[in-house]
Amino acid sequence: MSRIEAWAPGRVNLIGEHVDHRGGVVLPMAIEQGTTLVGEPAGDAVELTSTAMPGTVRFDLPVDRPELVQPAWGRYVAGVAAAAGVRQGIRGVVHSDLPIGAGLSSSAALEVAAALALGIEGDPATVAALARDGEERATGVPCGIMDQLASVAGVAGHALRIDCTTLTVEPVAIPPGAVVQVVDSGEHRRLAESGYARRRAECDAAEEAIGPLRLATTADLAGIDDPVLRRRARHVVTELARVDTVVAALRAGDIVAVGEALTASHRSLRDDFEVSTPGLDALVEDLLSRPGVLGARLVGAGFGGSVVVWCRRGTDLPGGLVVEAAGGARVRRTPP
Ligand code: GLA
Repeated sequence: MSRIEAWAPGRVNLIGEHVDHRGGVVLPMAIEQGTTLVGEPAGDAVELTSTAMPGTVRFDLPVDRPELVQPAWGRYVAGVAAAAGVRQGIRGVVHSDLPIGAGLSSSAALEVAAALALGIEGDPATVAALARDGEERATGVPCGIMDQLASVAGVAGHALRIDCTTLTVEPVAIPPGAVVQVVDSGEHRRLAESGYARRRAECDAAEEAIGPLRLATTADLAGIDDPVLRRRARHVVTELARVDTVVAALRAGDIVAVGEALTASHRSLRDDFEVSTPGLDALVEDLLSRPGVLGARLVGAGFGGSVVVWCRRGTDLPGGLVVEAAGGARVRRTPP
């Protein structure tokens, strides 16, 4: 039997939160922690176990109701298989060193590893789009493409400037004096799914008033009557400006300016987009008071999860997981 080994990294988003679903520019990086799927071809069925989760995932191909697969972690694999119309099965084991539910895109890593293991090929944007479709089919959450594209297109030592309209990826080097750490708030992301869809709908409503938010200026915001929608839109517009600030600061090696923009992003996510929690806010303030920390903010969709911390290399943080920028997903097939 031939052997298939696919690996896909998780991601941390440096800045550019809740702008991918507006077609805006984001700045995530793939990280060294990720998910591996090792298996062998298996007719027209998928059969997987996990070293971290109980149960065996089993479904026949083609699969048309991925959202019903049990145990639930198998839905991410089934979603991708459904999105791509996969017919060649696999039998194998999934292993991950990504903390689950901590905001490091463990689901995107599983989707991308599954896509490669199931033989899905193409340029990074194509593979990422199928993996993203898989997530939406599995969970019903209308997520953007940032997490999957970061996992596919990672570059060691670099953040990725991704334009979510053109899907072009430009690596931006992380200066040697700085490092990214992630601290888990321990708060379960209970509202993440319903809250995410609601925020998207609010952004859609704001765009009905003033057009695409990725092209809007702060002056345009006056055209939105509803104060809540105006705040949601203000987050998107100011966040996109902060992404540009961080890209320029990274290129200039100004690690202090990068940190300031991250902290400003947290305040905007807290006050304007309202996806923070008291626990995340307290954690951010605590981290900002520690020596060596240059900036901190909630990472990912919000409503719980983790804080991304931008700090001087060598900074010791309680509960801090150092995440280095890694290369993108890969697959190896060993003939029998
Ligand atoms: C989740 C989604 C992404 C993105 C972020 C918020 O991680 O999967 O597409 O929208 O939230 O920036």
